[in-house]
Amino acid sequence: MVVKAALRSKDFFEYPEFVNFAKNGNGLSALELGCGMPYNLFDLHLKFQYNRLQGVDILENEKAIIDRYRLHNNPGFPRDIYSLKDCYHEYMTYLNINKSEIPKLLDKYDRDFKINTAYDVTKENVRSLGVFDLIFLVDLLHFFPFKESMELIGKIPECLNENGIVVMRVNHEANQSMTDSQISKKIGERAYENRETGGLVYLFDEKGFLEIIKVLEDNGIQRVINPEKYLNRDGVGYEAMAYIGQKIS
Ligand SMILES: C[S@@+](CC[C@H](N)C(=O)[O-])C[C@H]1O[C@@H](n2cnc3c(N)ncnc32)[C@H](O)[C@@H]1O
Repeated sequence: MVVKAALRSKDFFEYPEFVNFAKNGNGLSALELGCGMPYNLFDLHLKFQYNRLQGVDILENEKAIIDRYRLHNNPGFPRDIYSLKDCYHEYMTYLNINKSEIPKLLDKYDRDFKINTAYDVTKENVRSLGVFDLIFLVDLLHFFPFKESMELIGKIPECLNENGIVVMRVNHEANQSMTDSQISKKIGERAYENRETGGLVYLFDEKGFLEIIKVLEDNGIQRVINPEKYLNRDGVGYEAMAYIGQKIS
């Protein structure tokens, strides 16, 4: 597996293969399972002109997504943000999008985005969301025991259009932010319980990640980006692994 020296959290937006595929997004659709604050989808809309964006997340409503984002990622996030559309607006300002374009893009947001909250990807029939040109599975699978991840992954190929791509990133068993003994307690092989929240995570080793990829590749997906692993920020051990595959019959 290729090793990358440093991790940018949205590294796949730097992959030429991804960017080449994504840059002509007009008329294309994308799904993000476990979208959280859907910056990946915002980027596809604003930078690549995708115009059917579907996100799903288990959190109960948009406010819960915003509160979670504020807590974990950006305590300085503005307080007067009440919906994901407000976040989208804020993001456009951050990207310095021309002010005269903003009303049109906000109108397009209403037409192009659909975010389903209180949606559990392990219980719902994800195929009923439709078929898409791009599916993001980014930092999601570690919430599930391996068997559940395998079941979910088995459903991905049928949710992709021909030539559609799946972009996947999983957390490595040596991910410091999840295995640090001050943050988590080890409760099993690659499984940790967060000391504060009691939340469980199931991290991946290389073998597990390749098994997940094999499920995709046994079902019509071909590698676009070979599996890569990313070093933790201090360069000791790995933080995550990533892969991109394309559906080609
Ligand atoms: C670490 S965040 C990643 C967010 C986003 N994919 C990104 O890359 O920025 C994981 C998200 O998965 C959601 N999630 C966890 N379990 C889920 C489930 N069973 N069904 C749907 N979403 C889930 C969490 O609520 C959280 O918003």
